[in-house]
Amino acid sequence: MDPRALVTRRRAMVATLLATVLPFVAAAQPAAQETFEPRVGQAGKDVIWVPTPNGLIDRMLRMANAGPSDKLVDLGSGDGRIAIAAVRDFKVASATGIEYNPAMVTLSNRNATEQGVAPRAKFIEGDIFATDFSDATIVTMYLLPSLNLRLRPTILNMKPGTRVVSHAFTMEEWRPDDRAEVEGQNAYFWIVPARVAGTWRVQAGAETVELKLTQSFQDFRGTAAPMNATVQGSLKGDEIRLTLPDGRGGQRELVGKVAGEQMSGKLGADNFTATRIAQPAP
Ligand SMILES: C[S@@+](CC[C@H](N)C(=O)[O-])C[C@H]1O[C@@H](n2cnc3c(N)ncnc32)[C@H](O)[C@@H]1O
Repeated sequence: MDPRALVTRRRAMVATLLATVLPFVAAAQPAAQETFEPRVGQAGKDVIWVPTPNGLIDRMLRMANAGPSDKLVDLGSGDGRIAIAAVRDFKVASATGIEYNPAMVTLSNRNATEQGVAPRAKFIEGDIFATDFSDATIVTMYLLPSLNLRLRPTILNMKPGTRVVSHAFTMEEWRPDDRAEVEGQNAYFWIVPARVAGTWRVQAGAETVELKLTQSFQDFRGTAAPMNATVQGSLKGDEIRLTLPDGRGGQRELVGKVAGEQMSGKLGADNFTATRIAQPAP
């Protein structure tokens, strides 16, 4: 056959095929999106979808003290209601939902647009175990106990002071700093503690104190030399407080901020600075 005739015949075949298939493709796409209705209990990658009730969301975001300087991430964001409420009702700077199910991501982004909070509330398709959310100042989640435990090391590595709220499930031996109940449903709240284990040399004017501390999540204990005292307390993010003998039969408070290997603050009426001079034994 004449090659030009062959090309013409092939083109005609492709055109016929496209004419047959395209109307179905075009019709199928919007229909699939418009008819998507999430079902409570529908399968998810690691956990099914069950939405957090709005009353509890409000309580969770209050407990986290959410506000305009916050960047919130909701891990497994479902229909987007937590991130949307964070921007709409608490005016957080940004709220991102990470959700594995692409249909839920589309639905959430549409909900955010309808409620006038896009793009400050936005939703991305992803796996919470493979997505970096380390810049968030508030983490919310409604997952499962085993998933909270898998996330725990990642969360403990976040910036001290990061706030975490979990609907229903705890972090096992990382005791919550606060909790709330709304209509029989529980939420738990934690503040990521600074790391203070090790030996610190504290300098306050002419006085030098050596603190040897061990740490379990937000709780620490140890000894202070040269006064040979035991110390203990709980961190609130990067804030440390402990009581020390003053050498005259009384006591004074050390109140400081931890920044990596340094601390600074007040020891009684004096300013102090401190440096970690030895890491904890492994
Ligand atoms: C119990 S629902 C909570 C939804 C929302 N956070 C709320 O409280 O209303 C859990 C959500 O996590 C999603 N999910 C499950 N495994 C996931 C994973 N590995 N990465 C991202 N999302 C996941 C599910 O599709 C579901 O939408």
